[in-house]
Amino acid sequence: MIRVLVLGAAAGGGFPQWNSNSLACQRARSADPNALPATQASIAVTADDTRWCVVNAAPDLREQINRQTQLHPKTGLRSSPIAAILLTNADVDAVAGLLHLRERTPFTLYGHSRVLGVLDQNPIFRVLAPDVVRREGFTVGQSVEICDPAGVDMGLRITPFAVPGKVALFMESPDADTNFGTEQGDTLGLDIVNADADLRVLYIANCAEVTEELVARCQGADVIFFDGTLWRDDEMIACGEGKKTGRRMGHVSMSGPGGAIESFSRLVGPRKIFIHINNTNPALLSDSDERGQLEQTGWEVAYDGMEIVLQ
Ligand code: MLT
Ligand code: MN
Repeated sequence: MIRVLVLGAAAGGGFPQWNSNSLACQRARSADPNALPATQASIAVTADDTRWCVVNAAPDLREQINRQTQLHPKTGLRSSPIAAILLTNADVDAVAGLLHLRERTPFTLYGHSRVLGVLDQNPIFRVLAPDVVRREGFTVGQSVEICDPAGVDMGLRITPFAVPGKVALFMESPDADTNFGTEQGDTLGLDIVNADADLRVLYIANCAEVTEELVARCQGADVIFFDGTLWRDDEMIACGEGKKTGRRMGHVSMSGPGGAIESFSRLVGPRKIFIHINNTNPALLSDSDERGQLEQTGWEVAYDGMEIVLQ
């Protein structure tokens, strides 16, 4: 069994975003049923319904935990079913939630050395005391059995793999226009299987380009969660809310030539779910033409509280 809970479906900023007065964000603020609010991207995964791995610690993690009874403390005076946190990148929407997890309850923190290095450089993350929160390095291409803080295997094996991406936005250097697009471990996808390796989920919430290699890797999976930040590459520019293209931000668009829908069209079998959806993306609105087009191609859009059980 693998159970996946979508804790948050939105991209950095969430939906509505604090400073956006777009029509979509206004709709989300006015309880429009076709513009459901969404917190920042994260999933929780378990193979035993007791110990959970949370993939990325969103700034909304406190609220996400409070909403999901599965993640509430179950034993003793202080405890948590969250036994491990897995990081795929060092962006604010992936790491800020770690600060909610202070108060000395143990869990294991997994991430690539480039991402753990960013945490090491920021002293505020010392609130996760090293004698309580063990940090474990991910090596690209190397499978690891995820263990709880007692060192006991949680029945989930993860293979991190590099995807086209970039360093966290706040780590970009002034010449970033020429040095982004690394595959050094700044941006990972996670290939998640159960102990028998007969159930398989891929989580790829940040990806600048869908390569042939990536499509091949997704073959045979049961479910893929994929970067749904933008509908079109020039969306931020076209809607007047930003100056960067999607690719420059490290996010391939859903639509258009080379977009995710086209690039994964040969991938038949896995359930395909977009996650990390930006508040500018019209596909976030369940009554939009874009949502209709996307669903016709077999894709789904994740939402907060979505639950998937594989067995
Ligand atoms: C992204 O995924 O592009 C980031 O969340 C950007 C950000 O940190 O605002
Ligand atoms: Mn993000």
